[in-house]
Amino acid sequence: MIDTHSHIYDEAYDEDFNDVLQRAKDAGVGKMVMPGIDSKCHDRMMECARKLEGYAYPAIGLHPTSVDQSWRDELQFVWDNYRPGDFVAIGEIGLDEYWSKDFLEEQKRVFEDQLTFAWERDLPVIIHARNATEDIFDCLDRVGKTLRGVFHAFSGSYETYCRIKKSYGGFKIGVGGVVTYKNSHLAAFMDKVPLEDILLETDAPWLTPVPFRGKRNESAYIRYTAQKLAELKGLSIEETDAVTTDNAIKIFGL
Ligand code: NI
Repeated sequence: MIDTHSHIYDEAYDEDFNDVLQRAKDAGVGKMVMPGIDSKCHDRMMECARKLEGYAYPAIGLHPTSVDQSWRDELQFVWDNYRPGDFVAIGEIGLDEYWSKDFLEEQKRVFEDQLTFAWERDLPVIIHARNATEDIFDCLDRVGKTLRGVFHAFSGSYETYCRIKKSYGGFKIGVGGVVTYKNSHLAAFMDKVPLEDILLETDAPWLTPVPFRGKRNESAYIRYTAQKLAELKGLSIEETDAVTTDNAIKIFGL
């Protein structure tokens, strides 16, 4: 399996990093993608990428919840630290209207600039969208390029999924721990989403799947999500694993 969204460089793993890594490998996680957030966590992520070369692949981008009064410097940091070949994606980028709308106009500007940056370099994007579906689509339409990537931690409706499929065909949806939650609206329509459109992810250390919901998440727990997805689709875990892994390899060029 490939964990397409792991913050394994996060401080949450300072104490037991090697154990966490070993458990991921033991659980069958063959590779992972590490999304960037902002300048503060960049060095930690790159150090991790060096240590785990050929296993954990970094992305670079300015996360919407890190867009504040210093957004120009933060965006410049992304441009300055980007090196061709060093990153498998631009991300995570997007809009978050749940935490704060104080810098919403700046969030949109930052998101669109990074979408264009990714397109110019033929890189996929990792999109973070929270309470912002319509605005995300507006930004994608304004940039107007044929982009590819993933709607990470997809939490939309079946209709939103269909809209992505129809208008933004280069995108997959990232499915993580949320699909294991009781009464998950996502779980209710997974039978209608082809595996070809799905990437598995954890968003570790957040969004922990059942049976560990509420505790720190880690990449090894991706198997609970894979198991649940397989059940919902009436497929074997092997097939679920094989197809979603293939999707990840293709999107991120791993
Ligand atoms: Ni994330």
